Amino acid sequence: MLELGRLDDLPSTYRTALASQNLVPLWPSLRAVLPPGKPTPHTQPTCWHYAALRPLLLQAGELTPIEKAERRVLVLANPGHGLEKMQASAAIYLGMQLLLPGEIAPSHRHTPNAVRMIVEGEGAYTTVGGEKCPMQRGDLILTPTGLWHEHGHDGNEPVVWLDVLDLPLVHYLEASYVEEGQPQAVTANGSERGYRSGGVVPSRMFARNDRRYPMLRYPWAEVRQSLQALAADSEDKEVVQVAYVNPETGDNCQNILGYSALMLRPGEQITLPARSPAAIFHLIEGGATLGVDDVSFTLSNADTCSVPGYRPISLHNTSATEPAFLFIADESPLHRKLGVYEVRQAD
Ligand SMILES: [Fe+2]
Repeated sequence: MLELGRLDDLPSTYRTALASQNLVPLWPSLRAVLPPGKPTPHTQPTCWHYAALRPLLLQAGELTPIEKAERRVLVLANPGHGLEKMQASAAIYLGMQLLLPGEIAPSHRHTPNAVRMIVEGEGAYTTVGGEKCPMQRGDLILTPTGLWHEHGHDGNEPVVWLDVLDLPLVHYLEASYVEEGQPQAVTANGSERGYRSGGVVPSRMFARNDRRYPMLRYPWAEVRQSLQALAADSEDKEVVQVAYVNPETGDNCQNILGYSALMLRPGEQITLPARSPAAIFHLIEGGATLGVDDVSFTLSNADTCSVPGYRPISLHNTSATEPAFLFIADESPLHRKLGVYEVRQAD
């Protein structure tokens, strides 16, 4: 590949003349924006261990009352993007949120889409679009773009959950904003109950639910059962993974980020092929190692890591007797819509 001219090859008078007209020569920057073969990501393989994060999050509960925080969150920031950018990848934001007994996080809605993955504690709930969603460990709860949501806590122990948002992308598009609202009246409970059996959906004389987000809570107990049933019914080499989808359409449950859960059989070692989207992995249960490039992370309860796209990822269940369960968020719906989605098989 040809070596291109550098900016300081150009006379300073010429560079000054360009800048005065808001002009920039392309060739000194061409290789940076169009690198050969594959992108040069800012996203670094990064792991946040829950055992290290948890005491700091609980300390935030002592240092900052909820009224002074609105949402009491520690952001899992990828150093490759700069901590101040608060990004896990180009399009993914991650935050670990703490709600103490009796606290509420007031009603609001915003343009970025969010999901919650519940990490620990009992008794908290999220009300989304008038539906009250109990928060139990491993549950996935959607708070999609434009839907009012608020959090409350009737239990007696701290509750922690992982927030995943497409905030970096929506902010980059200059489309990110929030509106504050009044406490919601609860008008519905348990949209997941109508969709709990695969293959059938609620129907009133064939009128179907055409809400863009018909199901808001995906209970972990049922997702876990699905994974175990799939594992029991599949070949040993098949990856045991389920996607969180809109049960009316089968599409991804949200527009920009995709969500799935993966089970590793006892002792299992798998390699996921290199795909263009960046991803995050969060350990729900068990123990595993994750390898990407020449980095390896040992994951235990509620550990979370981010990995850039375009490289294979190896996963290994470190237990010979128990399964391991991982929650995965990635940028694949976005990549597919943009037409840049790729899967690369090993050479
Ligand atoms: Fe929110």
